[in-house]
Amino acid sequence: MRPEIPAAKLRGVLEVVRLANAETDLGSLIALVIQQACALLGADRGTLYLLEKETGELRSSAALGLAGKTIRLKLHQGVAGLVAATGQSIVVDDAHADARFYGAVDEATGYRTEQILCVPIKGRRGEILGVLELLNKPSGFTPEDEEVLGLLASQTGVALANAQIYDGLRTNLDRLSRLMKVGTAISSELDLDALLRTISQTTSHLLQAERSTVFLVDRARGELWSRVAEGLDQQEIRIPMHAGIAGSVATTGTPVRISDAYTDPRFNPEVDKRTGFRTHNILCAPMRNARGQVIGVFQVLNKRGGDFTALDEQLLASLSSQAAVAIENAQLYDEVQRAYTQLQVLDKMKSDFLNTVSHELRTPLAPVLGYAEILLSGGMGQLPAGCRRGVEAIAESGKRLHAIVESLLIFVRLDQGEVALSREAVDLTLLLHKVVESFHAKAHERKLRLSVETAEALPKVLADPQELQTALTHLVDNAAKFTLAGGQVTVMARPTMKPDGRLAVEIAVRDTGIGIPRELHDKVFERFYQVDGSLTRKYGGVGIGLAVIKQIIEAHGSHISLESEPGKGSTFRFALPAAD
Ligand SMILES: Nc1ncnc2c1ncn2[C@@H]1O[C@H](COP(=O)(O)OP(=O)(O)OP(=O)(O)O)[C@@H](O)[C@H]1O
Ligand SMILES: [Mg+2]
Repeated sequence: MRPEIPAAKLRGVLEVVRLANAETDLGSLIALVIQQACALLGADRGTLYLLEKETGELRSSAALGLAGKTIRLKLHQGVAGLVAATGQSIVVDDAHADARFYGAVDEATGYRTEQILCVPIKGRRGEILGVLELLNKPSGFTPEDEEVLGLLASQTGVALANAQIYDGLRTNLDRLSRLMKVGTAISSELDLDALLRTISQTTSHLLQAERSTVFLVDRARGELWSRVAEGLDQQEIRIPMHAGIAGSVATTGTPVRISDAYTDPRFNPEVDKRTGFRTHNILCAPMRNARGQVIGVFQVLNKRGGDFTALDEQLLASLSSQAAVAIENAQLYDEVQRAYTQLQVLDKMKSDFLNTVSHELRTPLAPVLGYAEILLSGGMGQLPAGCRRGVEAIAESGKRLHAIVESLLIFVRLDQGEVALSREAVDLTLLLHKVVESFHAKAHERKLRLSVETAEALPKVLADPQELQTALTHLVDNAAKFTLAGGQVTVMARPTMKPDGRLAVEIAVRDTGIGIPRELHDKVFERFYQVDGSLTRKYGGVGIGLAVIKQIIEAHGSHISLESEPGKGSTFRFALPAAD
């Protein structure tokens, strides 16, 4: 016959049930049940074990007086394990004399168990959710106590099941929102090192693991490497592509989840030995790019307070697909950066080379030109008639070479960013005439008409006269060079209004020459680009005139435009601010 429960105790149980139903936080609910049960029945300690679906094991969620320690029991192991397995409550008077008692728990906790009262906790459909175990009541647990605790456990079971569902939902929600945050954080990171660090840290956090490492596949060397491992500063680990758990995941492309690393033959304890870390359990997942190729491996070690679950594996899978995209982006960015730096180095070498060569060419040119001049002027005696033509040719070629070297030097100077303008008010009418004058002989020889057309009241412009003259000389040189005999070259200047209402002067150099095809209008401003780049081309030059012109005009804060059609001539145009 079942003992009757006194009214006072019944009231106590009802009070616990009322409190329990109002509590949705699993941890608080468990603490409340244990505490109330101990108080109601005069027990020293209590433990509530929950049955884990994943492992089929009992796991203590909170043991009163055992803060932070988790006890795990298999079904049938110890009194709690038996109660969970059979669904029947057990009362023990002398634990250490009872064969069912599992002494290892006492050894681990340092507590001495004497009496035990243990009852099952069941859900709505009678399924076992866990067990509630009370320890040590010096007077011994009575059948009445067993009845009271049984009632309490059966009444709080539903509350416990609900709280477990809430708890699961909360955890999942929390993890999902973190996962989304990780996605945004990593998709904007382009520095590979920083990216790997962020990914490792967030993974450890998200999966409550001690360490996470991202290994990247280096196909060229047949290795996996990791530059950042959380907890080790900036150490580079390299392992053969097939070695260890990470290697097997990289080669097979399937995730691995193991609870005891040292019993798995694939585990390579070398890294542990080198780093002094002790690996217990491992979750390892491949990282695939959009084309499904494995580009790396995610390795997460030592889950805090248990083993990695199927949910952890799912989380890691979605994390790794996001990480793969971010890593590939960062790797591409890295490559582009490296290529760009290499280009810059090459560009600098080219500039340095041009600079040295130009200076070296200029030095011996000075005496060549000087002596040719002296010889022609009769400074060294009258030249025989046959010689004169030869010396004239020397002087002519020398001057051309000199002009090329000078423009190369200007180019190098501008190319190295040395455009320090000294601006002043410049009288354009004067400057344009001066430039055009210097081409008279050439124009005459090539049967070209050269003219300057300027408005009468032309305001002065704010410019560096030296640089401006260089630019205009190059423009007129091109116009004269690329126009056939009988053609016309015109240099024009007229006042104009800028969009901001300020006064400016527009300068244009127009020719009736061979013109430039539309698709090459941008190209001709590039250094060394020539429309006819063949060795047999008819026009001389190295192809830097327009690059120099562009640099000078842009240094003045302006822009040079081109209108041209093959066979119809070309017009180069730019504006300079009026000096007020
Ligand atoms: N007025 C023009 N008419 C037709 N083509 C032109 C004209 N100006 C420039 N070009 C084309 O643009 C190319 C580049 O001009 P740029 O002045 O930079 O070099 P270049 O005249 O060939 O040599 P450099 O000026 O260094 O002596 C020329 O080779 C030519 O093909
Ligand atoms: Mg030129």
